[in-house]
Amino acid sequence: MHGKTRKMSANTLIRIEGLHKTYHRGQETVEALRGIDLMVEEGEFLTVMGPSGCGKSTLLHIIGGIDRPTAGRVVVDGVDLGSLDEEALTRFRREKVGFVFQFYNLLPTLTALQNVELPLIALGYPRVARRTMARAVLEMVGLGDRLHHKPAELSGGQQQRVAIARAIVANRRLILADEPTGDLDSVSSRQVVDLMWNLNQSLGLTFIIVTHDPAVGERGTRTIYLQDGRVVGEERRGMLQATEVRGGALPGRAVCSPAVPHSTSSSGIVLTLVGALRVDQSREEVDG
Ligand SMILES: Nc1ncnc2c1ncn2[C@@H]1O[C@H](COP(=O)(O)OP(=O)(O)O)[C@@H](O)[C@H]1O
Ligand SMILES: [Mg+2]
Repeated sequence: MHGKTRKMSANTLIRIEGLHKTYHRGQETVEALRGIDLMVEEGEFLTVMGPSGCGKSTLLHIIGGIDRPTAGRVVVDGVDLGSLDEEALTRFRREKVGFVFQFYNLLPTLTALQNVELPLIALGYPRVARRTMARAVLEMVGLGDRLHHKPAELSGGQQQRVAIARAIVANRRLILADEPTGDLDSVSSRQVVDLMWNLNQSLGLTFIIVTHDPAVGERGTRTIYLQDGRVVGEERRGMLQATEVRGGALPGRAVCSPAVPHSTSSSGIVLTLVGALRVDQSREEVDG
């Protein structure tokens, strides 16, 4: 075989085999997942659809190591999650997975910048590095002028962009979003999906987006449909979203501007961006 350059070769990031999850509530047993087999490639922009209660959130929680399966195997980035003890699973979550939730889950007493710094504190980054990284990522999602706003001083769409910044700030390459536009109007919803798409296209981050909004679902390069805890359908689409990237005032547009190198190396996304944005260290704020 002819040896081509090996950039962007498809790698399996997530391998799920025979996944079952049963919840017990008193006498009642709920089979939330009933045998899911699924592979997700690195760099996919996957959407997951299905009626309420079909197991979408359960599936995301298990992929992200928030919950454990009753049976079956989940391998993420070469790691069999079933082999990890609680401590290792917590580390896996912190290092590898960014979560985005419907209601943003930002801490109301902290500014946008401080919210984005939080995962970096857990990972032990020193303060100046945290500030620099959080600031760069907030710039990247179009909120460079909202660094010191608290969640209540931001619109829903802006809060979700802060949450996306928080999800990606620690160089995590897998982002799991559970109804990320469920609380947003259609314009903000579109901006948030555009932002995630831009991050996928420019940085190669893998997204799994749970939604019941068809307008969001159809943005996936692949959609899987769940019903009663099983995958009942799958749709693949071409990469036809390039026009989204060229929009005038899209949040996250900076990600796609030529000023920012399209680094897809597994480390240093933020460092690359920090370099590209030439963050001025002298403007670092001193907190009290
Ligand atoms: N912690 C839990 N305890 C008991 N039942 C649960 C729990 N979490 C989810 N379920 C049940 O599992 C099923 C799937 O839930 P979920 O994954 O949240 O569905 P979806 O996100 O598609 O709406 C539902 O019937 C739900 O009531
Ligand atoms: Mg749900």
